[in-house]
Amino acid sequence: MAGKKVLIAYGTRYGSTEEISQKIAEILENKGLEVQLVDLKKTKSKEWPSLENFDGVLVGSSIKIFKWMNEPQEFLKKHKVEIQKRVKILGLFVSCGTASVPENCEKAKNDYLEKVMAKIGIEADIYDAFGGVYDFSESSRMGSLDKRMLKMGLKEMAKDSGIKYDEKGRNDFRDWDQIRSFAEKFAELMKT
Ligand SMILES: Cc1cc2nc3c(=O)[nH]c(=O)nc-3n(C[C@H](O)[C@H](O)[C@H](O)COP(=O)(O)O)c2cc1C
Repeated sequence: MAGKKVLIAYGTRYGSTEEISQKIAEILENKGLEVQLVDLKKTKSKEWPSLENFDGVLVGSSIKIFKWMNEPQEFLKKHKVEIQKRVKILGLFVSCGTASVPENCEKAKNDYLEKVMAKIGIEADIYDAFGGVYDFSESSRMGSLDKRMLKMGLKEMAKDSGIKYDEKGRNDFRDWDQIRSFAEKFAELMKT
């Protein structure tokens, strides 16, 4: 496996998906894989790397109003034919509010991963939905409108699930053990 190359291409609005991507990169690098991280929104699409130099690809997206960001979807569509050949290991992940409650993780996987794969016409070797960050603090990167929308969503979710949150603070619902386990499974697949 040593020396095999992995591309992690992600879309993030407020940094949560980026931090997940960085953590996955760290885990894969510790296992001897060579990793390149690409922020698809910050990088012009004509500068997105081609897949030919990589043995495995991970694509991640943040979810807003039930949707992936445009860039990671465009990336998958752009490489659809190559991905469909199933030569490279493909992993997909999202960071979303829904998966912040562990019991809702399967729903998030269905809504935000299985449906997206079906729509684009691809199949990933591995995919998972991770929880999100709800940052209501003063230092939050979120605008006031997004904060308000998110607060409403979280209030509803808390009513149904009983999860606790801080209305004025940073609520991080990502499960780092779940993320680690996903990265380790991806690394296992890279051995094949
Ligand atoms: C305006 C707004 C709308 C959102 N809509 C959804 C949604 O429809 N479903 C969901 O599961 N999470 C939703 N979220 C939660 C985000 O997916 C979550 O905060 C995620 O961690 C953001 O990732 P990022 O920091 O990489 O952008 C929304 C967040 C914001 C700010």
